[in-house]
Amino acid sequence: MRRPTLFLLLCFALLFLTISLKPLPCIATDTLQAGQSLLPNQTLISKQGNFALGFFNPGKSPNSYIGIWYNKVSVQSKTYVWVANRDNPIKELPNSELKLFQNGNLVLLNPSKTPVWGTDSSNSTKPGSNSTKLVLGDDGNLVLSDGSDSNFTIWQSFDHPTDTWLPGGKIAYNNLTKTAQKLVSWKNSEDPSPGLFSLELKPDTKEYVIMWNGSERFWTSGPWNGQIFSAVPEMRNNYIYNFSYESNVNESYFIYSIYNKSLTTRFVMDLSGQIKQASWLDNSKEWYLFWVQPRQQCEVYSLCGPFGVCSESGLPFCKCMEGFTERSPRDWNLSDTSGGCVEETPLRCGDKREFRPMSNVRLPIKPVTLAAASDENCRQACSSNCSCTAYAYGSNGCSVWLGDLVNVQQRDSGDSFYVRVAASDVSSSKKGSTSLPLILGIVAGVAVAVGSVLLLIWRCRVKRSVGTSKAVEGSLVAFTYRDLQIATKNFSERLGAGAFGSVFKGTLSDSTLIAVKKLEGVTQGEKQFRTEVSTIGTIQHVNLVRLRGFCSEGSKRLLVYDYMPNRSLDSHLFLKITLRQL
Ligand SMILES: *[C@@H]1O[C@H](CO)[C@@H](O)[C@H](O)[C@H]1NC(C)=O
Ligand SMILES: *[C@@H]1O[C@H](CO)[C@@H](O)[C@H](O)[C@H]1NC(C)=O
Ligand SMILES: *[C@@H]1O[C@H](CO)[C@@H](O)[C@H](O)[C@H]1NC(C)=O
Ligand SMILES: *[C@@H]1O[C@H](CO)[C@@H](O)[C@H](O)[C@H]1NC(C)=O
Ligand SMILES: *[C@@H]1O[C@H](CO)[C@@H](O)[C@H](O)[C@H]1NC(C)=O
Ligand SMILES: *[C@@H]1O[C@H](CO)[C@@H](O)[C@H](O)[C@H]1NC(C)=O
Ligand SMILES: *[C@@H]1O[C@H](CO)[C@@H](O)[C@H](O)[C@H]1NC(C)=O
Ligand SMILES: *[C@@H]1O[C@H](CO)[C@@H](O)[C@H](O)[C@H]1NC(C)=O
Ligand SMILES: *[C@@H]1O[C@H](CO)[C@@H](O)[C@H](O)[C@H]1NC(C)=O
Ligand SMILES: *[C@@H]1O[C@H](CO)[C@@H](O)[C@H](O)[C@H]1NC(C)=O
Ligand SMILES: *[C@@H]1O[C@H](CO)[C@@H](O)[C@H](O)[C@H]1NC(C)=O
Repeated sequence: MRRPTLFLLLCFALLFLTISLKPLPCIATDTLQAGQSLLPNQTLISKQGNFALGFFNPGKSPNSYIGIWYNKVSVQSKTYVWVANRDNPIKELPNSELKLFQNGNLVLLNPSKTPVWGTDSSNSTKPGSNSTKLVLGDDGNLVLSDGSDSNFTIWQSFDHPTDTWLPGGKIAYNNLTKTAQKLVSWKNSEDPSPGLFSLELKPDTKEYVIMWNGSERFWTSGPWNGQIFSAVPEMRNNYIYNFSYESNVNESYFIYSIYNKSLTTRFVMDLSGQIKQASWLDNSKEWYLFWVQPRQQCEVYSLCGPFGVCSESGLPFCKCMEGFTERSPRDWNLSDTSGGCVEETPLRCGDKREFRPMSNVRLPIKPVTLAAASDENCRQACSSNCSCTAYAYGSNGCSVWLGDLVNVQQRDSGDSFYVRVAASDVSSSKKGSTSLPLILGIVAGVAVAVGSVLLLIWRCRVKRSVGTSKAVEGSLVAFTYRDLQIATKNFSERLGAGAFGSVFKGTLSDSTLIAVKKLEGVTQGEKQFRTEVSTIGTIQHVNLVRLRGFCSEGSKRLLVYDYMPNRSLDSHLFLKITLRQL
């Protein structure tokens, strides 16, 4: 008697669940009609399902935003292409709504129904009306148009880009208002508010420039010659994108499209201060970088902030100068190093200081040249001025720096200078004992010496392991992915592309030049890949470029060759051999 009842109850429960789950947290549509609202538990999905629009919280951020993201791309976190209210987040999500009013305005309302963002279409040549509709397109463009004339656009998100430029969109210079549209980086990986880096068009020279904090121009694409920008020859290498320049009395702009419409691609002003063009590889489930500019991460202006040091020799790129510590460790964790570093021991003007040498560097920007006859005089000049933070004495005479030290890069060779820091006994001298500072000094000295030796040993080991990695199969080296990331400076210098992937230039720690080929669409398993690689190793022909090794980690498959300028790996290696046979 009881069992059937229970069974029936279960059935009802299941039925109820099925029904109540059916209107899942999305409006199964790409359109919002006048008078309708999008709620925090709903999304608009474009017709083919390429893009989604809805509320989101980036990372662990407590702030909420309205944005557009790739609906089919699944990495650890969503990839956002547009954010509506990047300057004005919503602090409380429940009862917020994105409402398309009867007058045709699209407005984001917070829980107390105060507008935090809106399209204000009142200046449009054709104002919105109760027949206005909002449609999310499969190109990632959110379009407000008149219901009776959907060809007339009242407002569109492509005219208000955040950090991403999608195919079909444009980054323009308005010749009537004399203002440039900007792609502006996120502040950090969890905060879409405007960061320090922006990309804009200079119509006079037909070139794009990257600015730091709206003022400091540190990279230019070089002028457009009709096919490429002079500093970005990569654009022609992979006949994938069609960039073109348009200009009329109202505006000048570049627009681009992709020849293969089924490719998912994006151009982003990254918070690393670099512009990046990436495509989604469905096979390996990752964003594949086609090109990056500036190529060297340390070319980005003030990347590591005041008293930070940039180095290309390993990750992370930014460190603090000796005697300094990260101003905001939390921001550094979120890939925003722009705040730089502060003194470990904050000092007042009269406190005792000493100079620490730094060699093989690119010197900080904005030196002040002084007349000083010797190194000692130069040092004295710096010592006697409280705002002096560093000096250098060399063939150019005496240079001093006042205030923040910006843009220092550690290199294999370069200049030397002296940074002013707290004297090593300053913090302990306050205790008044005369012998304690001495003892501490000796202890510290010994510790530093031992530490340096250990560091040296460790660095040698690390370097060796990068050079001649772990396991060796036959005469081939099995590199780790990280080894190759370091050797190729995170795949920054692209030599070319072929049918099986792209080739990057790299340098091993023993200065050997290598060419690293990232294979695309190679789906075979680890064991099979290794067998095939061993086979190439044994059948190398004298005319072929020598294969040094390979990397196989997760879904990543890479081949490492000796670097030979002007040789195509595809024509040499794969003429005779197909990838299947390898
Ligand atoms: C979405 O949220 C609203 C109120 O916030 C609620 O009435 C509605 O039932 C929710 N819909 C779903 C499918 O959860
Ligand atoms: C609309 O026009 C007014 C007056 O010309 C101007 O002040 C306002 O900024 C414009 N609004 C937008 C969104 O362009
Ligand atoms: C839309 O506006 C027109 C006039 O502008 C009016 O005649 C019509 O009734 C309105 N429709 C709705 C659904 O409000
Ligand atoms: C939009 O334009 C196309 C041709 O350009 C035309 O065929 C279509 O009817 C127009 N749609 C509307 C709603 O006017
Ligand atoms: C950026 O420029 C503004 C002035 O335009 C200035 O107040 C701000 O401090 C600058 N930011 C940094 C990080 O230097
Ligand atoms: C490239 O794009 C421009 C502008 O959209 C277009 O006129 C041109 O036909 C395109 N070229 C090719 C080869 O598709
Ligand atoms: C931009 O406008 C000015 C007048 O304000 C005009 O002289 C110039 O030719 C225009 N630029 C273009 C590219 O049409
Ligand atoms: C320039 O803008 C005006 C006003 O919006 C428009 O009528 C005209 O067609 C535009 N010219 C071009 C070449 O797009
Ligand atoms: C276009 O890209 C898709 C997906 O990457 C691929 O399957 C297809 O073969 C490509 N088409 C051409 C003509 O290259
Ligand atoms: C930075 O991240 C590391 C590991 O991801 C974590 O252990 C550390 O607590 C974080 N520091 C801050 C200040 O958020
Ligand atoms: C430090 O030197 C600079 C440049 O010589 C000078 O402008 C500044 O007034 C000096 N500051 C002090 C406190 O002497």
